[in-house]
Amino acid sequence: MLGKYEVRVSLAERSYDILIARGSLQEIGSVLGRLGLSNTVGIVTDRHVAERYLTRIVRSVKAAGFRAVPIILPAGERSKTLRSVSKILDELIAAKFERRSALIALGGGVIGDLTGFAAAIYLRGIPFVQVPTTLVAQVDSSVGGKTGVDHPLGKNLIGAFHQPLAVLIDPDTLTTLPKREWVAGLAEVIKYGMIADEAFFAYLEKHTEALLRRESGPVAQVIKRSCEIKAKVVAEDERESDRRRILNYGHTIGHALEALGGYRSLLHGEAVAIGMVQEADLARHLGICSQEVVDRLRGLVRAAGLPDAMPKVSFNALWQALQHDKKVAHGEVYGVWPEQVGRVRIAPLARDACRRWFVGRGARSGR
Ligand code: NAD
Ligand code: GLY
Repeated sequence: MLGKYEVRVSLAERSYDILIARGSLQEIGSVLGRLGLSNTVGIVTDRHVAERYLTRIVRSVKAAGFRAVPIILPAGERSKTLRSVSKILDELIAAKFERRSALIALGGGVIGDLTGFAAAIYLRGIPFVQVPTTLVAQVDSSVGGKTGVDHPLGKNLIGAFHQPLAVLIDPDTLTTLPKREWVAGLAEVIKYGMIADEAFFAYLEKHTEALLRRESGPVAQVIKRSCEIKAKVVAEDERESDRRRILNYGHTIGHALEALGGYRSLLHGEAVAIGMVQEADLARHLGICSQEVVDRLRGLVRAAGLPDAMPKVSFNALWQALQHDKKVAHGEVYGVWPEQVGRVRIAPLARDACRRWFVGRGARSGR
């Protein structure tokens, strides 16, 4: 085993550990036992993940003495709906889940967000454990307790904060991830460098090729450092009243693009990559950062194989979509703007300034 790390998310009585260890998928049954759970466990997953990992998980859970109830949903962002949550709830009721029963979210961010939300509202809250199997989920969505579903007008507009009991990360699951999904996950990793850690950003610049080859050493380092940064920010501001908003860097424009594309055209990470570069360019336009910051970010985004150009969209459509962002307060859109690589600032965005930037982009689009 190459590395085994534990990262603590400190949230008083809701504190929990993130365990990062290769091959740990097999250990899930004993982890559940150590968490003091008993009786029934629902394993929520999607069809792609079920094909590869469900049998292993069911075996481990049963060997530890639990009744296992698999719940399999269609894969992809378009499943992240209230209808899917309703399906999970139907299965829990049919299988007579009690307050002491638990759910396992086995899959990517879509499954994690859906399962966490179902766990938050079933019987007013039952425990759940995150077992993330995509890079996006291992470095971001499984940590921090944001759960929920999309609405046709906006991403993640319906949901609840519900922290998991534990996060069990097996980096070996990433070997079966399709290349496009792998690359999309690198966007959230780059985000941590931009918002909090210049040295980590430099590490990513240096190890881009190794990361694209999914070399286990750099992959483990990247998961660990990302989880550390996320755990610290979440511990400082669990409910996103202030500091946690920095985790949404790239997501203001990114979420708008996802919704405008009907959650079909861009993967979440791809939308975040475009959002980060475009928001950095907007920050440069607003005088918050230098061109050098934009160029450095764009260089890493492109080296990772991620998109950075704004898709064809009108200013009015974009501005309309931005109004559904969760960071809108008193009618103002709040953005997260890089000042330097490793440091961001939160500030409102005026429509006129955004429009001037948007119109002026054409002249600079070759960059
Ligand atoms: P996803 O859950 O749709 O997974 C991507 C695809 O990879 C799916 O087709 C899935 O079946 C497949 N897959 C998963 N694991 C696999 C594996 N090991 N091998 C092969 N295929 C595998 O998408 P995602 O990128 O993991 O997550 C994106 C979602 O996460 C978005 O809805 C986003 O809003 C959400 N998110 C939430 C938070 C949060 O804090 N809650 C943070 C970031 C992102
Ligand atoms: N992904 C944003 C957050 O967890 O706050």
